[in-house]
Amino acid sequence: MALLELRNVIRRFGDFTAVDNVSLSIETGEFFTLLGPSGCGKTTLLRLIAGFDTPDSGQILLDGEDIASTPPEKRSIHTVFQSYALFPHMTVTDNVAFPLKMSKVAPAEIRKRVEKALEEVQLSKFAHRFPHELSGGQKQRVAFARGLINRPRLLLMDEPLGALDAKLREDMQRELINLQKEVGITFIFVTHSQDEALALSQRIAVMNVGKIEQIGEPSTIYSAPANRFIADFIGKINLMEAGVTHISGEDMTLEIDGLGTITLPLKPAVQPGDRGVIAIRPEQVKVYALAERTEVPHAYTGKVLDFLYVGDVTTYVIELDNGVRMEALLANSAPGRARFFEVDDPVIVSWPQEAAQFLPDQP
Ligand SMILES: Nc1ncnc2c1ncn2[C@@H]1O[C@H](COP(=O)(O)OP(=O)(O)OP(=O)(O)O)[C@@H](O)[C@H]1O
Ligand SMILES: [Mg+2]
Repeated sequence: MALLELRNVIRRFGDFTAVDNVSLSIETGEFFTLLGPSGCGKTTLLRLIAGFDTPDSGQILLDGEDIASTPPEKRSIHTVFQSYALFPHMTVTDNVAFPLKMSKVAPAEIRKRVEKALEEVQLSKFAHRFPHELSGGQKQRVAFARGLINRPRLLLMDEPLGALDAKLREDMQRELINLQKEVGITFIFVTHSQDEALALSQRIAVMNVGKIEQIGEPSTIYSAPANRFIADFIGKINLMEAGVTHISGEDMTLEIDGLGTITLPLKPAVQPGDRGVIAIRPEQVKVYALAERTEVPHAYTGKVLDFLYVGDVTTYVIELDNGVRMEALLANSAPGRARFFEVDDPVIVSWPQEAAQFLPDQP
């Protein structure tokens, strides 16, 4: 049985639907992420799960039981917020001990469990400090320790790393993965950063205007996005408008606007006349000097418009002869990488057939 199950959950504010018929189920021990742009309903959904708010319709089940009438403090769920929400007048120890005190745990037991929790988040040395004497990352670790101290079934985290700088954020991401493995508690993590979601999660639910658009493992979401919104939202991608011209057997032929035809394996339910986009990741795009290669499949000529060198990779913007622009990501350390291109260099762009996906427009 799933640990948490949402069935057709809807939450409206006036005539605006912030959570629009969301269904999902999360297994015990999962690191599950809600990912989506600002305003898509992530926090609203988390508040419904935590019990700070109630759905207009739909069901929320924990261990198979409807928790609609269970108040937040009676749910085995704890929420960690971006703002840490620590008590400023309490030491680290007292902040972490707080939930245990509320549950009337014996003082000796509290001492033992707080010590262990502080060890888990590597804060033993800071036990007697006050929040204002801690860095952002340390404060967030206190919040995690407090969240884990009661061993909830579910830990909800709403952009917990949002206030940290890039380097610290990466360190904390690594720590979070280890912490979750160590404590074995199910995490629901909210972020609008696709990098963070890809790095941390076992599964990701991508949200857009209140709806879940796709749920899957990071590699699936990245390599097989269900639609144009997801393709565009997760990582960089080249999107080219295209229409299906005909279908024969297992294949479909598409006309990419201004570029020519390509043939791809047929996708279910696709019909001649359908429109959509051809999506190709920049790291799948190959670039050759015009003189270097003559016979590559899907080869289109163009010239280098711009490039950005970022250490291990270079991103090239190529303008094809028909005006279509493509980005190509070339690893600077790639074996056989003999040369770099300059602006205005004439080049050939191509990609392996399986790198291109057709994402039909939604009706
Ligand atoms: N109490 C409320 N009353 C009216 N509208 C609300 C309320 N709470 C949220 N909303 C609206 O619901 C939508 C979803 O808000 P929510 O806070 O869930 O977004 P989010 O995905 O968490 O965004 P962010 O990444 O910016 O935190 C927004 O358009 C917001 O304005
Ligand atoms: Mg939010």
